[in-house]
Amino acid sequence: MSRTVIHGGLVITASDEIHADVLVEGGRVAALAAHGTAAAGSWTADRSIDATGKYVIPGGVDAHTHMEMPFGGTSAADTFETGTRAAAWGGTTTIIDFAVQSVGGSLRGGLDAWYAKADGNCAVDYAFHMILADVNESSLKEMDLLVSEGVTSFKLFMAYPGVFYSDDGQILRAMQRAGGNGGLIMMHAENGIAIDVLVEQALAAGRTDPRYHGDVRKVALEAEATHRAVQLARVAGAPLYVVHVSADEAVAEIAAARHKGLPVFGETCPQYLFLSTDNLAEPGFEGAKYVCSTPLRPREHQEALWRGLRNDELQVVSTDHCPFCFSGQKELGRGDFSKIPNGLPGVENRMDLLHQAVVEGHISRRRWIDIACAAPARMFGLYPKKGTIAPGADADIVVYDPHAEQVISARTHHMNVDYSAYEGKHLTGRVETVLSRGVPVIDRHTYVGRAGHGAYLPRGTCQFTR
Ligand code: URP
Ligand code: ZN
Ligand code: ZN
Repeated sequence: MSRTVIHGGLVITASDEIHADVLVEGGRVAALAAHGTAAAGSWTADRSIDATGKYVIPGGVDAHTHMEMPFGGTSAADTFETGTRAAAWGGTTTIIDFAVQSVGGSLRGGLDAWYAKADGNCAVDYAFHMILADVNESSLKEMDLLVSEGVTSFKLFMAYPGVFYSDDGQILRAMQRAGGNGGLIMMHAENGIAIDVLVEQALAAGRTDPRYHGDVRKVALEAEATHRAVQLARVAGAPLYVVHVSADEAVAEIAAARHKGLPVFGETCPQYLFLSTDNLAEPGFEGAKYVCSTPLRPREHQEALWRGLRNDELQVVSTDHCPFCFSGQKELGRGDFSKIPNGLPGVENRMDLLHQAVVEGHISRRRWIDIACAAPARMFGLYPKKGTIAPGADADIVVYDPHAEQVISARTHHMNVDYSAYEGKHLTGRVETVLSRGVPVIDRHTYVGRAGHGAYLPRGTCQFTR
């Protein structure tokens, strides 16, 4: 059994910071021991990694990605191969992607299609949520089977009428089912029916530029949908996870629900923490690069998101990685913002951007690891296999240099997309080495992984509610 020792680093988990060496054996963490102790000195190993002056952190868990997802007449530009490779470059060793039920189709059919897309192609481990695009008697029954098979979370949309949208009755039924089978409902909370009216009115008035995407998707319509989702979950007796929260009023709805003791959880994404409507308003058609839903908000909303992350009103930061090239994809919406495919690239940038938040004093180092590794693993039934460094855990470990400087650019990133949403941003901190189940994937800034190393992860149910 191959043995690796990572020595000299500061091990950071969601709960502790310890100056310890880490012994990895057969793909798992075997032991931790303080530097210089007899225990650490007695370890023999095939490989030794010097982490002196570096952080030793769990591999990131990105609980919201869309590789190869069909959307708006095109498909997200990263395949499972390119997207998971980029994830590894950025210190993320687990992704949870979304399999999609087609309208009129079964959950089984959608899930099998996504198994086939990912199988043999991933550089790091992966799991699936299921998008419910057609809630009916038969798909409701199938939810039970998926939970027993390890697909334990289901995304519903209050937005995108005619595509993924579910009405309140369908939502209530799906929540009731999840309440009974242990599944977790993930909600895209925007009032899509009202938004579509505003879209039609904006286009009729000649307001066609990307910035109007942000205008019509009102804060009030995110807050209203969030409130409604909370009340429906409360009636159903089911837990609720609100995805890609962007507006201060939506954070307030989640905080109020949690204050009442309801099992309501929230996720935000780096784009809402670091970008704003200023980006959507960039001249020419540049704003199209920043079109996603929920939309970017005015800068003033960011403080509520940071506060929410510090106070545990929001538990998780995922990327909602859904990349579309500017050339040929985002351009589909020239002259009509509603035709711009929704989504931003970011799977490679999340760990670094959140470390930058540590540098800038928004969050502590342990909170960084909590929101990026431990909490997503617990939320989606993968802890402590993923999300921590402890005996028995998978040896998904990142050696992170907290002092290295870098500048984000599409010229140097590894995502299969022709722009970066963070072009030119200076960051302190950089991934140096990444192990996935003890196997090097990034070795001192060189990719040494392979497509097919990544394994499928059946998941347990949400560990925040049991
Ligand atoms: O704009 C986004 N978020 N695109 C991906 C689909 C979704 O709603 O998460
Ligand atoms: Zn969504
Ligand atoms: Zn998404």
